[in-house]
Parts: sequence; C-alpha cells; structure tokens
Amino acid sequence: AKKLLVDVDCGVDDAQAIMMALAVPDVQILGVTCVHGNTTTENVCKNVLRVLKACCKLEIPVFRGASKPILGITRNASYFHGVDGLGDAPDPEAPGLDMVQKEGAVSAMIRIATEHPGEVTLVATGPLTNLALAVRLDPTFPQKLKGLYIMGGNTESRGNTTVCGEFNFVSDPEAAYIVLNDYLCPVYITSWEFTCRHKLPWEFCDEWLSQDNEKAKFMKRIFQHSMNEAYSPQSEKELVDGFGFVSCDSYAMAAAVDDSFVTEYEQVAVTVELAGTCTRGMMVLDTLELLNKKHKAFLLKRVDMDKFKSLLINALK
Ligand code: BDR
Ligand code: CA
Repeated sequence: AKKLLVDVDCGVDDAQAIMMALAVPDVQILGVTCVHGNTTTENVCKNVLRVLKACCKLEIPVFRGASKPILGITRNASYFHGVDGLGDAPDPEAPGLDMVQKEGAVSAMIRIATEHPGEVTLVATGPLTNLALAVRLDPTFPQKLKGLYIMGGNTESRGNTTVCGEFNFVSDPEAAYIVLNDYLCPVYITSWEFTCRHKLPWEFCDEWLSQDNEKAKFMKRIFQHSMNEAYSPQSEKELVDGFGFVSCDSYAMAAAVDDSFVTEYEQVAVTVELAGTCTRGMMVLDTLELLNKKHKAFLLKRVDMDKFKSLLINALK
C-alpha cells in the first residue's frame, strides 16, 4: 500500500481530500497532523476526528501541531469555511479532543518517516508551519520522504487572501520559504491558479452530494456554508474563470494517490517572497533560472478531470 502522512488545517476542502484518500483501496494513512490555518489548531483536530468518524476510520492517529505561524499574524478563513472550519454545522456526538495523540505533530512526522524511509508520501494542505519545524528539528527529514504534495502558492501573482498571495503560503510565508528551499525531495505543487482553471460544474457537485449514504449527508452539511459563499452568480470571483466547484486540497491529494491523474507537470525552481508591501507570501517562479537553484519543483499543469470526478465520487460511496 501507498503510505501517506497528511498535514491539514482541516477546512471543508481538506475534509474532502482526506475522504478521497480514505476511499482509495491501496492507500494507507499513517497519521493526520494538524496545523493552524482555516481555523484554530484545536478546531482542526476536532474537524479531523469528525471526518475520520464519518468514514469509520477513528483508528488513524491524529496529532496536534503548530498553533501559530513562525512569524507574523495568525489568519483564519472563517468567512469561507465557517468559524469552526467545517461549515458551522456541529455534530453533538463529535469525538472529544482526548482522542488526539499525546505525541506532537512534528515529532510524529519525523518518527513515522524514519520508521519507513523512502516510503512515506507527505500531503500538505494547510500552512507549512509543521513541515518547516520538522526540517529544522531533523534536517534529514525531507530525504526520508518519497515525495511531498503541497496545495499552496500561486503562479501568476493572483492572490486569494492578499493581492498576490494564496492563503496557505500567506498564512506562514517563512514556513513556505523554508519548505521550498530545504525540501530536496520531489515536491509537487498545486497552485491557486491551477485550481481556478479546473473547476467542476455545479451540476456535478449536486450529483456528487446526492448519493444516499452517511458520508454524503455529512459532506452536504459541512459543505453548505462554503457552497453559499462560492456560488453567487453575481460574484466577480466566479466570472474570472467561469462558474464551478473547486476543491483546492483535493487536487493535491488526487496527484498523491493516483499516478495517472496528472498528465503533465511544469518543472521550475520556486521560492517565496518574504518582504514587499504587496507581495509577502507570494510564490515566485524562477523560469529564467537566475536564482541558480538546482532543485526544481513539479507544478501541476495538465490533469485528467474524469479521474478527479471518479475519485470524488468514490470518496462519498
Ligand atoms: C487553501 O486555503 C484554504 O482555505 C483551503 O483549505 C486551501 O488549502 C486555498 O488557498
Ligand atoms: Ca487547507
């Protein structure tokens, strides 16, 4: 089986990504590590436990990680994911935080990668704080990984949080910088612009949610808030790339779990702007190779959207 470690700031699309991976037969999630981002780290832990419960997978260990970025302000995305990060549709029977492991996220990541050298694929769908701390604690951590899949960053300086910045990178620019410069393993990046160009029609979303089972009901409840936010016919956001349903974190997960999903990558050295009045947290593409970086990242360019649809459908089966 493909061994996965998943680092999340569990909002709605992180939940969708986790559910996608749980539904793939030859994939084994060795642990889920939590980080601040869409909501507080405590809420993220609760949300992950709720997702695992909805999928009858509470045996997967959940670890609490960083609650703040390395430097700068702590953001959240409650306007989109709800104050609790999962659409403000609480479950009175949600598992308690006592189910979170005593071991911290960063030591768990290092331990698990060390136990399975060269075998673990890390999928990061939140701010990269835990990953940055991991490489500082154990500089050999990245080389123990099989690969790293990130949802974050932007390729055309089109922001979704600041003028030029994507949420996960802008929420901890220093961490993103450390990861893009110190993770010398294969790094695959799903940028914000990529996700905007690969929307699925809202009709597909209706069909997806209409499956008659507990997982689909769970998804329908937690997804309502962000669907209302994303789907507004008058919204300029929608008009830029056409209407449709985007599950940002699920593209990164699909790339990690299904080798045939991505049909073309762009290989380019990348880094992150740390200063700048408008550009802090913006991903920078060194297409002219002026930074002399030997290590290039793989940016998702072309994908098989039918594969993506079937991975999503299976997630709610
Ligand atoms: C990213 O920001 C978060 O709100 C989403 O979960 C996703 O990881 C998109 O910019
Ligand atoms: Ca996320």
